[in-house]
Amino acid sequence: MAFPLRKATLRGNLATHDHSENALVGVASASPQSIGFAVIGAGAFGSNHLRVIRELSDSGDLVRLAAIVESDTARGRNLHSSFPGVRIFHDVDACLAACAAGEIQVHAASVCVPTSAHAAVASALLQAGIDVLVEKPIAASLAEADALIALASLQQRILQIGHLERFNPAVHAVHPYIHMPMFFEAHRLSVFTPRSLDVDVILDLMVHDLDIVLSLVQSPVHSLQAVGLPVLSRKVDIANVRIEFASGCVANFTASRVSTERVRKLRFFQPHQYVSIDYARQDLLFIDVKPQDSAPGPHATLSGLALSKPTVTPGEPLRLEIESFLESVRTRRQPQVTGLEGRSVLALALDINAAIAEHATRAHLDRFV
Ligand SMILES: NC(=O)c1ccc[n+]([C@@H]2O[C@H](COP(=O)([O-])OP(=O)(O)OC[C@H]3O[C@@H](n4cnc5c(N)ncnc54)[C@H](O)[C@@H]3O)[C@@H](O)[C@H]2O)c1
Repeated sequence: MAFPLRKATLRGNLATHDHSENALVGVASASPQSIGFAVIGAGAFGSNHLRVIRELSDSGDLVRLAAIVESDTARGRNLHSSFPGVRIFHDVDACLAACAAGEIQVHAASVCVPTSAHAAVASALLQAGIDVLVEKPIAASLAEADALIALASLQQRILQIGHLERFNPAVHAVHPYIHMPMFFEAHRLSVFTPRSLDVDVILDLMVHDLDIVLSLVQSPVHSLQAVGLPVLSRKVDIANVRIEFASGCVANFTASRVSTERVRKLRFFQPHQYVSIDYARQDLLFIDVKPQDSAPGPHATLSGLALSKPTVTPGEPLRLEIESFLESVRTRRQPQVTGLEGRSVLALALDINAAIAEHATRAHLDRFV
């Protein structure tokens, strides 16, 4: 791992100006010995970010938790005992004022506030010259996403989006085997919790699978059909989507946050092969159809099938994601999940929502609301 040698802050040390997402992002002429990190939003998922940063710090990674920002006063108060010595702020402006006063040094931050607040919080950080890892989805609207991407480019800051299944070891392990996926089935089911209700199940859960399929198919969307229903919240809680890509590949997605079980599966077919990924168990199953001497007919048997389970080295996707983000912060390499990729996922998610609304009107589903 490349690591900068000189001791200084990244802020205000920009040497190049290239707006391409493929370029080095704001080559820093001097970099911090240890990355000062802030977690913004210490709710259910922000707590995981806090744990990972502490684990990395404890295991010798040159990152230290410099600040936590949590708008819920009671929750913020409780954090003091768990994170002694870490400054805790009620809002981002107070944190940035402490940075400007030289009381703390923050070079990078995770944005773990509800999606509706991603844009406001992330842009304040980018404006202050801080690299950001924004939880998925990038923002609540395309206008917000575009503004964030433009600001990160202008400020030459790292903007990584938290599509963490990209870092799932099972997904990583499948990449060498991808040749021509033509049919996907994605299932992501969760038991209801009163979290992330500022968004529907598409932005809450399905975005993970949309991101993975978009990254594997690499073809524009040709058409989509969608149905979705609110069940326990006032937004769509369960949805089914069929997408056809320009390549002819078809993907079916089912996402539910009102299920009785937790399922995280992606299955796909490509010529002579079926692939099943269990994101939660981090395992892979391949079933290959062996070439046969004679054409398969009514008497074809299962003997022509070969099952295999490639080895997957387990790892926590969130830890791998944050390590990758820190690597980008240090080296100024573009992040593994860019703002533009996060925007593509959001654009597709919003198209799905429009298709769901159209279907609801056509089918007179207003009684579900
Ligand atoms: N990558 C994943 O797998 C994954 C999983 C769950 C949630 N998420 C994402 O993480 C984000 C947070 O989700 P959650 O489930 O932790 O929600 P949550 O409601 O449990 O936590 C959000 C926290 O942010 C605080 N907050 C709200 N506005 C704030 C502000 N302006 N400044 C500081 N703090 C503020 C709230 O008080 C709360 O403690 C969402 O964007 C969600 O989509 C990602």
